[in-house]
Amino acid sequence: MSTRRPLALRVNRAEHELFAAPGDTLLTALRDALGFTGAKRGCNQGACGACTVLVDDEPVRACLTLAHECAGREIVTIEGAAGAAQALQAAFEEAGAVQCGFCTPGMILTAAAMLERTPRPSADEVRAGLSGNLCRCSGYRKIVDAVLRAAETGAP
Ligand code: FES
Ligand code: FES
Repeated sequence: MSTRRPLALRVNRAEHELFAAPGDTLLTALRDALGFTGAKRGCNQGACGACTVLVDDEPVRACLTLAHECAGREIVTIEGAAGAAQALQAAFEEAGAVQCGFCTPGMILTAAAMLERTPRPSADEVRAGLSGNLCRCSGYRKIVDAVLRAAETGAP
């Protein structure tokens, strides 16, 4: 017998209805039930940051967050990127900071939250802010450049 229960999630400024088991993660709900595959399943244990999404404007690891705990909260994935996250997407492309792209959504959403708090970060602050997000292609220098570029051009 399925233990899945109805759940309403607000994702990218729209309401979505799904069924989720009590132990289902937000990542499973977003990717597997709702099709927001921009949130990547990397390590699936909280170590890489590839699954990062914004919940009430704060970056969270969707693989460590229970879907049912997100009812009534505002979730943003890379598909709903706006403001700073949109400016960061352009800056990542311009700076050549996207290689395979697997880490990129998590990097951008983490950086977007950082720029909301610190609109003009130093390179060291960017490195510290992104230290929990791993890039297996090792493109860190260009990623930092992209965030600084977005900050210089006025995002958010
Ligand atoms: S997939 Fe969530 S931190 Fe790696
Ligand atoms: S661009 Fe490939 S993991 Fe970062």
